[in-house]
Amino acid sequence: MTHLLVTGGAGFIGSNFVHHVVANTDDTVTVLDKLTYAGNRASLAGLPEDRVRLVVGDIADASVVDPLMAEADAVVHYAAESHNDNSLHDPRPFLDTNIIGTYTLLESARRHDVRFHHISTDEVYGDLELDDPARFTEQTPYNPSSPYSSTKAGSDLLVRAWVRSFGVRATISNCSNNYGPLQHVEKFIPRQITNVLRGERPKLYGAGQNVRDWIHADDHSSAVLAILAKGEIGETYLIGADGEKSNRDVVELILELTGQPADAYDLVADRPGHDMRYAIDSSKLRSSLGWSPSYADFTAGLAATIEWYRANESWWAPAKDGVEAFYASKGQ
Ligand code: NAD
Ligand code: DAU
Repeated sequence: MTHLLVTGGAGFIGSNFVHHVVANTDDTVTVLDKLTYAGNRASLAGLPEDRVRLVVGDIADASVVDPLMAEADAVVHYAAESHNDNSLHDPRPFLDTNIIGTYTLLESARRHDVRFHHISTDEVYGDLELDDPARFTEQTPYNPSSPYSSTKAGSDLLVRAWVRSFGVRATISNCSNNYGPLQHVEKFIPRQITNVLRGERPKLYGAGQNVRDWIHADDHSSAVLAILAKGEIGETYLIGADGEKSNRDVVELILELTGQPADAYDLVADRPGHDMRYAIDSSKLRSSLGWSPSYADFTAGLAATIEWYRANESWWAPAKDGVEAFYASKGQ
């Protein structure tokens, strides 16, 4: 049995991971989460108390991190400021958490010789043109666009340096866009689903042509467990499920699945510096670790996600008005 320290485990992907670990392993988990606006205790509700413990604290505070690291066999580091639009409005928390927080964890893992898995994003590679046949690989040069993605790129480089300079036993994964239950309503898919559920129209940035490569959060979790079990120290693995879709196609599918007319959406102000397309080539992960995604059918996964938001309004409703007021102030 392994004891995992999961940072950011009360956020979207981290909480999905904790549920996945409880359902699929005998491991125990300590979640370290600051419970920012993006963290939610309710996302961990129903998990067995003898296997999952929540500690509320900041990953940038070494006095909080150190005792938790000392008792862990491995740390899986999800905690981050994660939303591009917020990073364009106020970049500072992105530096504090994504850079200083990751540095603090790495130093603690180094002191206690704890296996480290760093969760990162395909956005560190910048973007691709719509008509470019290329996809990102582990060899693609870093070229981040936003304050968010540049701080994630910086955190990845810290991890690489701590492996090489100090022998920290770390791996990195860069994943494409996740969808599924427990995602904050500020993000694209939950925002559009909850708009429709409230009788509002979905909002597409620009012309809606931008492409994202969607993967279900549960498939992200199974990939991370595979890397923890079999990944090679010092290696980077790209995680993706061949799910490229334009934002317009995703909105039209949400409208279809909820019985609305296909054109019942609004085009709104574009995101400054908006990355055009992300696309992941996950061949290395699949061939070297034998991983493959389970949610092959995006329409079925999206339909189940819509049903989750329909059934869990009490989870998302408290954040919805504030998020919409923020977007309205930006013409979005
Ligand atoms: P999220 O915003 O939903 O959750 C982030 C969590 O981190 C929250 O619970 C928050 O309270 C916590 N947190 C923030 N600052 C903290 C701090 N200083 N100390 C402790 N906890 C803190 O984010 P998410 O979408 O679940 O993303 C999780 C990770 O996955 C991030 O590292 C992100 O870069 C990465 N990622 C996300 C996606 C995606 O599609 N959402 C894709 C690839 C990679
Ligand atoms: O690629 C991985 C990244 O995916 C992660 O690193 C980030 O943490 C995660 O937030 C996500 O970043 P994106 O910027 O791609 O996700 P977001 O949900 O903000 O937007 C997805 C796309 O939808 C993007 O092209 C912007 C667009 N969009 C977004 C919102 C909120 C809209 O058209 N309308 C909207 O209302």
